Amino acid sequence: TTPSLLILPGDGIGPEVMSQVRRIIDWFGDKRGLAFDVSEDLVGGAAYDVHGTPLTDETMERAQAADAVLLGAVGGPKYDDLDFSVKPERGLLRLRKEMDLYANLRPAQCFDALADFSSLKRDVVAGLDIVIVRELTSGIYFGEPRGIFQEGNERVGINTQRYTESEIERVARSAFELARRRSNRVCSMEKANVMESGILWREVVQKVHDEDYPDVELSHMYADAGAMQLCRWPKQFDVIVTDNLFGDLLSDAAAMLTGSLGMLPSASIGAPMANGRPKALYEPVHGSAPDIAGQGKANPIACILSFAMALRYSFDQGDEAERLEAAVEKVLADGARTADLLGEEGKTPVSTTVMGDLVLEALDSS
Ligand code: NAI
Ligand code: MG
Repeated sequence: TTPSLLILPGDGIGPEVMSQVRRIIDWFGDKRGLAFDVSEDLVGGAAYDVHGTPLTDETMERAQAADAVLLGAVGGPKYDDLDFSVKPERGLLRLRKEMDLYANLRPAQCFDALADFSSLKRDVVAGLDIVIVRELTSGIYFGEPRGIFQEGNERVGINTQRYTESEIERVARSAFELARRRSNRVCSMEKANVMESGILWREVVQKVHDEDYPDVELSHMYADAGAMQLCRWPKQFDVIVTDNLFGDLLSDAAAMLTGSLGMLPSASIGAPMANGRPKALYEPVHGSAPDIAGQGKANPIACILSFAMALRYSFDQGDEAERLEAAVEKVLADGARTADLLGEEGKTPVSTTVMGDLVLEALDSS
């Protein structure tokens, strides 16, 4: 049966970048015979405007049933004063939570043509290709007790870092599976020197490795040392697996190794469905960019690369994913730049649509 793909363009530049991805999806259908059953729905402010909620139950059900969900971005100043319960971001949080997407994959990949754009030296980042796997549904952002409490004559703010063995085990498995498709190396990061959850993390990751993934090269690093190594020589890594909090920080730091927000894709993966495919949501890392929305300036590459991740991880089309990534690389090597990739250079930027045109042309000649 034809695999299904639910598209949720969302708000701001979300629909602008997604319309370029739609053209690319059509290209793979026409030229490569990759048919998808594509449907589109509302999320975020766009859903609130029509339904009074950032994600309807019907959309939630369609997301649960889809083989993959591709999302643009949500939010914007128009919705800033809404009640917390109907804010656009709540739509995205509900998707992640109800689909139980526990492994967040954040690649940090540096296209050679953009290496001088990084905040680090060219030889440190050129050709960089690593993935950070961040645990997304547990840890200190969710642990109980949490809150601000009165304690004697002052208040105390409390969050609890809490991980069960099974929560650690499933995200470790995701990281090992991912490593097998790549350079077969996993570095697990925690702070086992000062945190009990870190001691358990290290123990469980090692056990999953020894029992089921002895072929993968596993190392452990304290997360603070890991942060240092990530800036010093990031190419030493292949897959990094870490908890929710450390992953949040490390993946944002890693993102800056590669330049613009407009380039960064992500995937959030859950448990396998009945057909063997994992539950999965693919989205660019960036938000709805209200400052440039509606002006044709948005860089569609983050969203395009998110679709490449869907090809690879949901649809087992690794070769076609590489074809798409190579097309993006060629366009950049030929010098095309959206405004966010120009920095101080005095060149003329290309528009969102022209960037889409160029990627399609590069695909045609691939
Ligand atoms: P943002 O990522 O939307 O924008 C930050 C800066 O990067 C802006 O200057 C923007 O113009 C630029 N930028 C982002 N994506 C770009 C692209 N594809 N091409 C060129 N330039 C790009 O983050 P910000 O401004 O903090 O948030 C704006 C709205 O987006 C807020 O409502 C926020 O809540 C929401 N947001 C949504 C996310 C999501 O849907 N996953 C993630 C982050 C923020
Ligand atoms: Mg963050």
